Amino acid sequence: MAHIIDGKAIAASARLDIAQRGQAFFEKTGIRPGLAVVIVGEDPASKVYVRNKKKGCEEAGFYSEVHEMPAETTMDELLSKIDELKNNEKIHGILVQLPLPKHLDEKAVIDAIPTEKDVDAFHPVNTGKIMIGDYNFLPCTPAGVMKMLEYEKIDVSGKECVVIGRSNIVGKPMAMLLLHANGTVTVCHSRTKDLAEVTRRADILVVAIGKANFVTADMVKEGAVVIDVGMNRNAEGKLCGDVDFEGVKEKASAITPVPGGVGVMTITMLLENTLRAAELAANR
Ligand code: GUN
Repeated sequence: MAHIIDGKAIAASARLDIAQRGQAFFEKTGIRPGLAVVIVGEDPASKVYVRNKKKGCEEAGFYSEVHEMPAETTMDELLSKIDELKNNEKIHGILVQLPLPKHLDEKAVIDAIPTEKDVDAFHPVNTGKIMIGDYNFLPCTPAGVMKMLEYEKIDVSGKECVVIGRSNIVGKPMAMLLLHANGTVTVCHSRTKDLAEVTRRADILVVAIGKANFVTADMVKEGAVVIDVGMNRNAEGKLCGDVDFEGVKEKASAITPVPGGVGVMTITMLLENTLRAAELAANR
């Protein structure tokens, strides 16, 4: 039976540390780290995420603004909003909640976010910096996974690491961070032949494909560490991950639950990036 990695406890400890550093920064500079979150439209899941981001800021003693824009917002209106936040000194981090309504050009929106306020680390400049290992911001979800591994004293160096999923937000940067930590990294996706044969080699398996209960015990090596990035609703509407938790926990040495695993770490890393953005702004 696997050790259940307690994301909530790790996040609480990390957030306490961030809040203390934020307070020390305030005492030194008189500046509260500030985050602006922009949400366009009425996607219910996005609304929950945005509410949690605001709550995370409040609990850490950060300044935050939520800008709710209607679903029919135009590209020009959204770009002017970003421009306004770019010039707002109280705001150190800007996050535009994704996905955006279909008529908006997501790529152009990401390109418009000033790189020094890009706390999602989605801008191509920041993505490129991650690739070469010279970065200010790490994307929140992969960074949260690395933080969990660190807290759990799971050494990545020399390990077989398999990532399932190749999204720009999770899979690709996740692979890069594991590589920076000296893992031997394989990225699998929908075209991978004999997926189970590859995943069974993994000492550390990170799953980010968005399919409920996709990874089953037969796909996991005895004693592997299994990190579940999935956030799905099952037929009963219950939140569940990409991993068949009940089956896989019998085989893995450590596993993250959903909820209570990676999800809570994501916002924690957003707070970390917001503090970092404020520190960088103060040093300019
Ligand atoms: N939608 C789902 N996850 C994320 C995230 O990490 N950042 C943003 N901006 N939107 C998201």
